[in-house]
Amino acid sequence: MRFILTEDYEELSRRAAEIIAAQVREKPACVLGLATGSTPIGAYRELARMYREEGLDFSRARSFNLDEYYPMSPDHPQSYRYFMEKNLFSEINLPREMTAVPSGDTDNPPETCRAYDAAIEDAGGIDLQLLGIGQNGHIGFNEPDDTLYASTHLTPLTEDTIRANARFFSSAAEVPTHAISMGMGSILRARKILLLVSGKNKHEALKNLYHDKIDPHCPATFLKLHPDATVICDSEAYNG
Ligand code: PGA
Repeated sequence: MRFILTEDYEELSRRAAEIIAAQVREKPACVLGLATGSTPIGAYRELARMYREEGLDFSRARSFNLDEYYPMSPDHPQSYRYFMEKNLFSEINLPREMTAVPSGDTDNPPETCRAYDAAIEDAGGIDLQLLGIGQNGHIGFNEPDDTLYASTHLTPLTEDTIRANARFFSSAAEVPTHAISMGMGSILRARKILLLVSGKNKHEALKNLYHDKIDPHCPATFLKLHPDATVICDSEAYNG
C-alpha cells in the first residue's frame, strides 16, 4: 500500500484526477470503477476540466460504479446514478451506455448482483477502482461485520452509515435501509486501487491502514492485500 499525503482537499483531488487521467491516456478503452460520496467530487471536477481544456478523451472508456441504494429509482435526486450524472457523466464524453451503476429498482436483486459481476468480468475486469472510505472503514457498502461478502450483493446499511448519509436526505428515516454493493472480491480484483481519504472525521479509519492487521470490522484494511493500492489522504485526515 502506497500513501500520498497532500496538503488539502484541492491537492488530493488534483493528484487523484492525475492518476485517473494517466490510466485513461495509457489505455483509452479502460474500465474505471467509480465511487460516489463527497470525497471524489473534487477529482471529478478536475477530470471535467481536463476533458474541456486538455482534451482528455473518455470516448472509449467504460465504468462500473461501486454501489447504489436499494430500493432506489435511478432518477431520484439521492440515487447514485443521479449523482454520477450530475458530478461526472454530464461533464465528460464517456458514452452513457458504457456507464453502469447497480440497479436500485430491480425486482430481482440476486440476479442483478450476479449479472453485475458477470458484466465486469465480460468487460475484462476493472483497470482502476476509485474508492472513498466510511468513518466506520467501509468501502462501497461493505460494512464492518464478522464476515464480509466477496461478490456484488444486497446488504443492509449500518446505523452509522444511515446517520452519516442522513445529511443528504430530509431525515434519517428517509435514507434507504439497504444497498447493492460490489463485494470485497469484486473490488480487490481491480488491477489498481485508488483510495481517497479526506477530512478529520476519517482520521480513525485511516489509522487502521497503517498497521499490518486485516480486520473485517474495518473492511478497508483488506486493501492491504492488494499489490497495487494507493491511498491519497489530506492533512486533516492524517493529523485528525
Ligand atoms: P464520503 O463517503 O466521501 O461522503 O465521506 C465515503 C464513503 O462513505 O464511502
